[in-house]
Amino acid sequence: MSKSVLLIVSGGIAAVKCPDLIRRLGEKGIRTRCILTRGGREFVTPLSLAALSGEKVYEDLFSLSDESEMGHIELSRSADLVVVAPATANILARMASGLADDLATTALLATDKPVMVAPAMNVMMWRHPATQNNLQILKDRGVMIIGPEEGDMACGEFGFGRMSEPMDIAGAIEGFFRLEGHLKGRRALVTSGPTHEAIDPVRYIANRSSGKQGHAIAGALARLGAETTLVSGPSIEPAPTGVTLVRVESAHDMLAACEKALPADIAVCAAAVSDWRVASEAVSKLKKNGSAPQPLELVLNPDILATLSQPGNQRPALVIGFAAETDDVIAYATKKRTSKGCDWIIANDVSPQTGTFGGSDNTVHLITADRVENWPKMSKNAVAEKLALRIADVFGQSDTDGN
Ligand code: CTP
Repeated sequence: MSKSVLLIVSGGIAAVKCPDLIRRLGEKGIRTRCILTRGGREFVTPLSLAALSGEKVYEDLFSLSDESEMGHIELSRSADLVVVAPATANILARMASGLADDLATTALLATDKPVMVAPAMNVMMWRHPATQNNLQILKDRGVMIIGPEEGDMACGEFGFGRMSEPMDIAGAIEGFFRLEGHLKGRRALVTSGPTHEAIDPVRYIANRSSGKQGHAIAGALARLGAETTLVSGPSIEPAPTGVTLVRVESAHDMLAACEKALPADIAVCAAAVSDWRVASEAVSKLKKNGSAPQPLELVLNPDILATLSQPGNQRPALVIGFAAETDDVIAYATKKRTSKGCDWIIANDVSPQTGTFGGSDNTVHLITADRVENWPKMSKNAVAEKLALRIADVFGQSDTDGN
């Protein structure tokens, strides 16, 4: 496995386990380059990290010699994965609030790579709502969390807060790299966001979809190695790393862009496509002219999910739709799976009290031909990660050989 990790060592007693972690990663063929924080330096020396990693250890944001060799931006992107171990309550808080007041946090803010943290702290600090809130923020951003474990602590107390053992952290890192390539060689197409159906040059019909869920799914599939095209209606969500983003306005444009993105192995239709459009878009702005309001004549839009699900050479092997329902969620969604002809449906309850539309969380049910899985309420990022792994299961591991 020719992968590399940027290991950020922050100031906890567990930093003494880092040389062991570097050694174990090396045994798996994973190279490590370290950033040592000022606190971390109190527990482990730069020399021992450099000796085990065989690389220069980076310490000071404003070190002129470091910057002339490798700038902090380049450093933050030089590895395949950024790992913070040990991750103290302090560095988790700084990550959650986006501070960049030393080299470690600057690299964490500047990186475009996935991030994994191994928390280590006193049990009360771990349990503190501030720490738990920070972790939730990081989880929602897709940061992977390893541990902590329960046990005796250096401070003499007992409980959760011990950093996971180097063997387990190294195993998690290796596991991540294996899964990362799970969809290598596969092509994925994801629709996301609302559509805008023009009435005239200044007005349109739209809906409240934010694009959060679809964008997160595209990002998660790309992280698993799929060559991913994200066809998105108007959304302020940033383009996820590693996906090809095609921006569209209307359902018609979305269908055309999807057809252009074929062939694909996987299609996930998460867009809230407008069911209707106006029969004929006015070429100039409609005026009141003191007359009674004119009714808009609406016609049905093409159904992108149903079109992609049609049998034929171009049909992706796995087509997944969403069902946004407000009542009888599972019953309606099960019917929708059959009527649209797709393989799976992700049913979600979008009644106003759930806050799903525009919110960060989602409570979904995965409906396949033979079962219904009820997933607990989780962030849209977590739904995306879980769905991407389920998709990867379908395609097996044959393509990860040699990864
Ligand atoms: N969808 C689509 N193209 C459309 C309408 C919907 O691709 N023109 C897809 C959505 O992306 C989603 C699924 O179909 O994956 C379900 O859409 P939804 O709007 O919930 O259901 P409808 O088909 O509109 O049915 P109803 O409004 O009766 O619930």
